[in-house]
Amino acid sequence: MRILIIGAAGMIGRKLLNRLVLDRMIAGQRIDAVQCVDVATPPMPQDIPFAVSGDAADICDPAVARRLVERRPDVIFHLAAVVSGEAEANFDLGYRVNLQATLSLFEAIRAVGGDYRPRVVFTSSLAVYGAPLPDPVPDDHHLTPLTSYGVQKAACELLLADYSRRGVLDGIGLRLPTICVRPGLPNRAASGFFSGIIREPLNGLEAVLPVDDDVKHWFASPRAAVGFLIHAAGLDTGRLGASRSFVLPGVAATVGEQIDALRRAAGEAAVRRIRRVPDPAVARIIAGWPRAFTADQGRSLGFVAESTFDEIIQIHVEDELGGQIAA
Ligand SMILES: NC(=O)c1ccc[n+]([C@@H]2O[C@H](COP(=O)([O-])OP(=O)(O)OC[C@H]3O[C@@H](n4cnc5c(N)ncnc54)[C@H](O)[C@@H]3O)[C@@H](O)[C@H]2O)c1
Repeated sequence: MRILIIGAAGMIGRKLLNRLVLDRMIAGQRIDAVQCVDVATPPMPQDIPFAVSGDAADICDPAVARRLVERRPDVIFHLAAVVSGEAEANFDLGYRVNLQATLSLFEAIRAVGGDYRPRVVFTSSLAVYGAPLPDPVPDDHHLTPLTSYGVQKAACELLLADYSRRGVLDGIGLRLPTICVRPGLPNRAASGFFSGIIREPLNGLEAVLPVDDDVKHWFASPRAAVGFLIHAAGLDTGRLGASRSFVLPGVAATVGEQIDALRRAAGEAAVRRIRRVPDPAVARIIAGWPRAFTADQGRSLGFVAESTFDEIIQIHVEDELGGQIAA
């Protein structure tokens, strides 16, 4: 199997490559080569058991998309994106990266022609939904994105469905839960504080909480996110509906429940590092977001996430903190 990871230097892309190195297999077949691309040079793990390349390239350039599919990868993980806060702040960049580059990629695949029909795993988002929303949101709820990022993801889902229907590619769109606890430095996603209020206190640092404790949202760990991608690569797409995109299972938790789980994991001293600084702009964005999902389709297709927020914290401690809470 030849794999292409676009957005390989990102949080999920890096973890995906690490997992492929460990598994050596995908969709029941041996991995022969992995091609990694990102605007930032993708970091490479040690002792990679297959051919691997890491290129710094901008997928907004249609020539880059054509070059990437020249080697006819069997599975393409398309993870590259400008995140929600940035896509809202920079209209041009958001449409260029999140929509036009996806279309160029699909067109590059179409241009290969012949019997080439790769599996394309596309990471969509809960931002395709917009208030008013039921709690939980059922699988068949209509899409009403309220941000440019959400519109860009919803538009890509439509393209993915149509290019799949036309036999150009074999697509799966994964509406990922908010991935928590996001390791490393905060990014420009409006959802960043959901991770920050766990990650920073566990590192002995102060975290800012811009919303109320009763804000509820839908989460899965980075480990679960990688599991979703791997499962999607081998899934029988005959089991999908015409839309090809669906919500993944996750954990519904309020900010208050997140904080309770932090207290159970690391004690009151960690909780005291959360500083409440209400931010009406962030609160307004989050108010339009979904709180929980039934995620029946994702579950019935065999996708698995954590079942409690305590598990999500435990995974962060194991995968990022060497199993120890220092603070
Ligand atoms: N992390 C989450 O909570 C979450 C939730 C829902 C959906 N998603 C989606 O999952 C995917 C991966 O998320 P992530 O958290 O790893 O994001 P990330 O921001 O860590 O990674 C995205 C990567 O895309 C790269 N990129 C941006 N523009 C590019 C370009 N023009 N050419 C090449 N590479 C480019 C960035 O350099 C970055 O490394 C994204 O599509 C994101 O929208 C993430």
